[in-house]
Amino acid sequence: MKTNLLPLPRSLEEREGAFLLAPAAAIGYEGPASAREMAELLAEYLRPATGYALPVREGPAEIVLAQTAPDPEPDEAGFLSEAYALDVAPGGVRIEAATSWGLARGIQAFRQLLPAEIYAAEPRPGQAWEAPAVRVEDAPELRWRGLMLDSSRHFWGVDDVCRFVELLAQHRMNVFHWHLTDDQGWRVEIRKYPRLTEVGSVRRETLVGSLGAWPHRFDGTPYGGFYTQDDLRRVVAFAARRRVTVVPEIDMPGHMCAAIAAYPELGGGEWARPEVRTFWGISQHVLNMEESTLAFCKDVWSELMEIFPSRFLHIGGDEAPRREWEESRRAQELMAERGLTKPEQLQAWFTKELDAFFRSRGRRLLGWDEILEGGVDPSAAVACWRVGWKGWDYVNDAVRAGHDVVLAPTSHAYFDYYQDEPVAEEPLAIGGMLPLSKVYSFSPRLTAVPPEAARRVLGGQGQLWTEYIGTRDYLDYMAYPRASALAEVLWTPPERRRYADFLDRLAAHRARFAAQGVAARPRP
Ligand code: ACM
Repeated sequence: MKTNLLPLPRSLEEREGAFLLAPAAAIGYEGPASAREMAELLAEYLRPATGYALPVREGPAEIVLAQTAPDPEPDEAGFLSEAYALDVAPGGVRIEAATSWGLARGIQAFRQLLPAEIYAAEPRPGQAWEAPAVRVEDAPELRWRGLMLDSSRHFWGVDDVCRFVELLAQHRMNVFHWHLTDDQGWRVEIRKYPRLTEVGSVRRETLVGSLGAWPHRFDGTPYGGFYTQDDLRRVVAFAARRRVTVVPEIDMPGHMCAAIAAYPELGGGEWARPEVRTFWGISQHVLNMEESTLAFCKDVWSELMEIFPSRFLHIGGDEAPRREWEESRRAQELMAERGLTKPEQLQAWFTKELDAFFRSRGRRLLGWDEILEGGVDPSAAVACWRVGWKGWDYVNDAVRAGHDVVLAPTSHAYFDYYQDEPVAEEPLAIGGMLPLSKVYSFSPRLTAVPPEAARRVLGGQGQLWTEYIGTRDYLDYMAYPRASALAEVLWTPPERRRYADFLDRLAAHRARFAAQGVAARPRP
């Protein structure tokens, strides 16, 4: 039997024979409580399609998950080792790892060895649940392998968000970057500032069609939605079980119209009072840089830190126009008080204050690469997205300067871009062109980075901005299979990657999508 693991493991040996999962089988675990937790996760994964209620118990069984020691403290970026070994033989299955993160990845690999119908939500009677015999020894190339979902432009309910996390986990990805607020909607309950959701979560109406089409037309229908803190906790718990880290993003000081609409004192004064934005593009409205506004931001983050245990907290920082600061007498006063000479230094002041605040709480700051402008301490990590027009030098410079970086370039990782010609035959997208083959050609190993700094390239992630993505099927269509390609690029060593081989395995992978109703793009 042929295996079609995706991403391709570091080492894979195909052997004679197969393991047949029987209804009377059990799942055993060896090691700490987290091994039991992973055994229960596997039992839960196998139950719907097989209809088998596989018991979980300590010690020997047909399938054994063995963890050699309790999970250690995560590293400085919040990660644990994800190495695992998977043995499938006619007599049984054994997944071994030093950490529960490794077991979680091994579980996903094992699921992929079973028939694709294992992903179905309903029993598939008559299916033989056979997995080919293999020995897999595996570990990822890069630590940060993720996807970003924008819940502001379009709101995704908790079930859809969990499904999004489950799909990325199936690809052995481990970061869910959640873009929670933007000009077009504030989507998180903050107890101290109820107007953020009362006012900021609803826009009056929404642009119909492309931002570039003239005249603009609007649908005349209010659009809203937000997550209660319990909702957020549900997503965090769902992801944590799969050993996926949820990194929340609250985009500041730009992309803040919804918050300023709710609390005008955060903005530029009477003449700069936005509503929750009803169309796309970059707003000129930004937070003012008062101490009281910084205090507001710290309050917001303090509540979110109670919910999101991730090491990194993402403050956005992209596309914050300086015009309001340039034109404001008060901003000039603040600059003078702080000894600043250029408006961009106001954003740098703000970022540094938040960076220090996060560090005082044992967290780390992550921002889009604009946070490099005006200077920020090397403790801050940078999500590099503008490689396409800035070139790679600034990324290498950031790494050399001591920043950790996450690669999120428009050129290879913006899954809101078109994916094929002719675009007239594709659903409306924001623009751009990112075919599957180009995603697969991405080289996240930076050549100009000195070897001792290479570890600062944490990894990469794909972006699902949702201005034009409003339904679950369309989200699937834009995410997959491009995210499958990215998952392999970030996991599999470059010398083992071949596009033709990826496409070959993708054909089998599509059956997994079909079994669970994922509306992946059917071509190429
Ligand atoms: C971004 O696409 N504005 C990070």
